[in-house]
Amino acid sequence: MRQRLGITLACVTLALIGLALMLPQLAVTAQESEVIERGREIYRQHCASCHGVDAKGHGPAADALKKNPPDLTLIQKKGEKFPFDEVMNIIDGETVISAHGSREMPVWGTIFRKAKGEMLAHLDIYALTKYIESIQRHRP
Ligand code: HEC
Repeated sequence: MRQRLGITLACVTLALIGLALMLPQLAVTAQESEVIERGREIYRQHCASCHGVDAKGHGPAADALKKNPPDLTLIQKKGEKFPFDEVMNIIDGETVISAHGSREMPVWGTIFRKAKGEMLAHLDIYALTKYIESIQRHRP
């Protein structure tokens, strides 16, 4: 009887230690999915009109553009890393000088900064990039 109790206690203790070790990881995962969710919302609001709800480039406003909006689910090439900083810079747009003349996509950095200030603008662009990263078709 005594021994059984001992074993039970040992099991409970081990389980608790295991849980305690896992918690920080779980918290990080939860935070990350919240950021992606925020990115998805902003995407639907501001980006889907051109890039499409499925991000493959066929939004309702796409026909009015001279250039087709690119398929955002194919940014990451097979076997390569997702170019996170580059995508953030493209969305922000303030430091990107278009290689091929005019840029049809709005400069979101400027728009977001005017609407919500530096901190939130940066967070939103980060969340958008996280969301786009999460929908890549060539994720490892
Ligand atoms: C008015 C239409 C339009 C809207 C709205 C729009 N885009 Fe774009 N986007 C484009 C076009 C067109 C391009 C191709 C480059 C160019 O002409 O500016 C592009 C390019 C991009 C690229 C570069 C992709 C690559 O493969 O190089 C990213 C990333 C991107 N857009 C993300 C977004 C995000 C995020 C939003 C919403 C905050 C958004 N776009 C809203 C039209 C749009």
